[in-house]
Amino acid sequence: MSEAIVIAVSNQKGGVGKTTTTENFAFTLAEHGKRVLMVDFDAQASLTQTQGISQPDNLNHTVYDLMADVINGEETTEEPVMSTGHKNVDLLPANIDLAALETALVTVNRREHVLRMALMRYREQYDYILIDCQPSLGLLTINAWTAADEVLIVSTPQIFSSKGLEQLFGSIRRIQRYTNPRLTVAGVLMTRYTGKSKINREVMTLTEETYGEAVRIFEARIPTSVKVDESHYMCVPIVLYDPKGKVAAAYRAFCREYLGLDGGAAQ
Ligand SMILES: Nc1ncnc2c1ncn2[C@@H]1O[C@H](COP(=O)(O)OP(=O)(O)O)[C@@H](O)[C@H]1O
Ligand SMILES: [Mg+2]
Repeated sequence: MSEAIVIAVSNQKGGVGKTTTTENFAFTLAEHGKRVLMVDFDAQASLTQTQGISQPDNLNHTVYDLMADVINGEETTEEPVMSTGHKNVDLLPANIDLAALETALVTVNRREHVLRMALMRYREQYDYILIDCQPSLGLLTINAWTAADEVLIVSTPQIFSSKGLEQLFGSIRRIQRYTNPRLTVAGVLMTRYTGKSKINREVMTLTEETYGEAVRIFEARIPTSVKVDESHYMCVPIVLYDPKGKVAAAYRAFCREYLGLDGGAAQ
């Protein structure tokens, strides 16, 4: 049985579309018959809430408990993974408990490796494990990158996002050097892109010129649409909420491009 590919969906900036991308990447991979586990790894629990769990803080079993069991050397008896209702997509939820781990981890032995250990039990059950990272470069993100095979960087065509990529690549290089030599960068996915905006186009060109040699910048770009907010409000991924819309088409094109299928970016 083959092992899941673990992908950390990352950016140290908030609001760039990490959670939206994690969810829609998962559901488009599922359209290709892939079994996917989405891991909410942000104490704000947006991904958990978009799955219809309006009060994540009432959950008794989350990614936090799995990690606490690893730290305490205990067997996990209660399974925190839940179904999303789609047969191929499951969710490992989070809640505010996760915020306490950032400091608690500091004194733990092999503190960078706790999430990797915690996810071990799922590696054979899924084709992909997508980790929705929190917007920081702290110890939780280091755990995500140590657990991952690949980092998918989500960014927006704004000048500060483009400049922030430098810091992000520096942090990833440190992880490759010290805790996870097999980590690769899958590429940069641009979201909230408005082709009509001159600034958006210019920043896109600048990003391609600056980083395009060293890293893959996906040809698929996710356009801006008010439907994305609507889909979160309705707790339905946009690829199901507005399946014929431009955002769904872009996430499908991205997924095909990621999987290396013909015509991925042609839509
Ligand atoms: N392509 C898009 N078009 C319009 N709004 C978007 C798009 N992608 C994300 N958003 C909105 O931007 C906000 C932040 O998105 P989110 O995925 O939660 O980002 P992050 O996880 O990086 O903080 C949300 O309100 C979301 O609905
Ligand atoms: Mg998020």
